[in-house]
Formats: sequence, C-alpha cells, structure tokens
Amino acid sequence: MTAAIIDCAGLTSGYAGVPVIRDLDLTVGEGELVAVLGPNGAGKTTTLLTIAGVLRPIGGAVRFLGAPVDGGRPDRVARRGLCLVPDDRSVFFDLTVRENIRMGRGRRHGDPVRVVLDYFPALESRLRMRAGLLSGGEQQMLAIGRAITMRPRALMVDEMSLGLAPVIVKKLLPVMRRIADDLGCAILIVEQHVDLALQVVDRAYVFNHGAMVQEGPAVELRGQRDLIEASYLGAQDAPDAQTDQADQADQGGAVR
Ligand SMILES: Nc1ncnc2c1ncn2[C@@H]1O[C@H](COP(=O)(O)OP(=O)(O)OP(=O)(O)O)[C@@H](O)[C@H]1O
Ligand SMILES: [Mg+2]
Repeated sequence: MTAAIIDCAGLTSGYAGVPVIRDLDLTVGEGELVAVLGPNGAGKTTTLLTIAGVLRPIGGAVRFLGAPVDGGRPDRVARRGLCLVPDDRSVFFDLTVRENIRMGRGRRHGDPVRVVLDYFPALESRLRMRAGLLSGGEQQMLAIGRAITMRPRALMVDEMSLGLAPVIVKKLLPVMRRIADDLGCAILIVEQHVDLALQVVDRAYVFNHGAMVQEGPAVELRGQRDLIEASYLGAQDAPDAQTDQADQADQGGAVR
C-alpha cells in the first residue's frame, strides 16, 4: 500500500487547549475518496481545520505527504498542495465566475477555466455572472472547481452538500469520484447525506462527541446503517459526552 497523503495518528485537537476531538486515527490515500460523517458538534470541522494547519494539534500528529503539519501556518500547507473548501465555500460574491476561477492561481496548469468546465460544464453559461447570483449548488461547483485548478494532492470539502437538494448531491458525488480517479487526489469530504455518500466513497469515518465511533470501507458501512443511525441519535456510548439526546435532536442530528 502506498503511503497515506493525509495521516492523522492519535490526533487530539480543540480550542484554547481544550480538546474537542480525541485520539483520532485517520488516513486518506492517493486517489481515495473518504467521507467524514457524524452529527452536529461531533468535531468534523475541527478535524479538517487541524489537518489544514489552522489549528495546532494538542496531542498526536498530522502528516501531509509524510511531513508534519504543526498548525499555525495554513498557507504553508496550502502551498504544499492541500486545499480546504470551507463550509461557507469562500466564493467571492462580487466577482464573476470567471474571475473567481482565476483567483485560484491555477494558471500554471493550463487554462483554469477549461479545467473547471471539464468537471462542471453547468458553469459554462454562468462564467460572466456574479458568483453571488449563483445557486448554492453552482457556488459549490465553483469552489471545488477553483480548488482543483491548483492541482492539489489533497482536497477537503467541509459540508459539501450544505443547503443542496439531494438531486444535486447525487450529481456532485460522482464528480468527486472522478476528480479522485483522474488527479490521484486524496479527497476528504464532510457529508450529511449518509446513504448517498456511502454509494460513492471508498471509506468513511463516523464521528460522535469528538471520537471515532465507526470506520471502514463504504461497502461494509452500508450494511451497518442502524449503528450509524444510533451514533447520530447519541445512542452509543460517547466519551465525555457534553450533550444529552435532547440537545442532539435540537442540533439537527438527523441522518439523511
Ligand atoms: N472556535 C471555537 N471555540 C471553541 N469551541 C469550538 C469552536 N469551534 C467549535 N467548537 C466546539 O467544538 C466542538 C466540535 O465542533 P465542530 O465545528 O468541529 O463540529 P462539526 O462536527 O463540524 O459540527 P457541524 O456538523 O455543526 O458543522 C463543538 O462542541 C463546538 O462547540
Ligand atoms: Mg462543521
């Protein structure tokens, strides 16, 4: 097996020295498409921010392409080839779609607009439109498209399907598969549509209360839907559980 592109070992991370994820082991290999699943507040975004070098690990280690990511310098990690599409997608609303794509600084890999349209042809008729006028799905296509113009070795997309209709998610997931296959990119997506994700990804990790409660190949997890459901409802034992079941329901921890 080739070395993992993203490798978290015993990772503990959080805010102001207070852990919210504990002792996580997580890897993503070249060309792998991996999902992070779990209810609100489980620690998914915290994990991505730590891998991207925004947050400094409290314990354990993150390695990207074999070298440690210590936190505090996300710009350096990005230059080494790790791209994070955050949950707000960070599209420039006042710029056109074309201008947004050019902001990605992906020119050294050919015409970046062509690269984006190859994966997201629906954006062709939108190139001159202000990005703020795009639909949520189109904005996500733009954010992911802009990221791949930089030929990242790893791409992480937080809340990939936030606000998107399932019909759009069904179209987007296979494109992520194609990006992983074509570019050999290691892709980690946070996805709330569990069943749709498990049809397309290679593997998934299920988080709850900052701990990994399930992991494995998608084909195996598809057969454990009841366990995944239970973890969303807070029915599994969770270390240092800070919220009770009622809170979890309030936080919208439903499995879709
Ligand atoms: N900036 C912060 N400072 C302190 N605590 C934070 C901060 N951001 C998140 N947390 C806490 O860390 C825990 C995990 O949050 P995180 O955002 O990683 O969860 P998540 O799984 O991404 O949730 P969601 O599905 O709602 O996006 C939560 O209890 C949250 O309140
Ligand atoms: Mg989050």
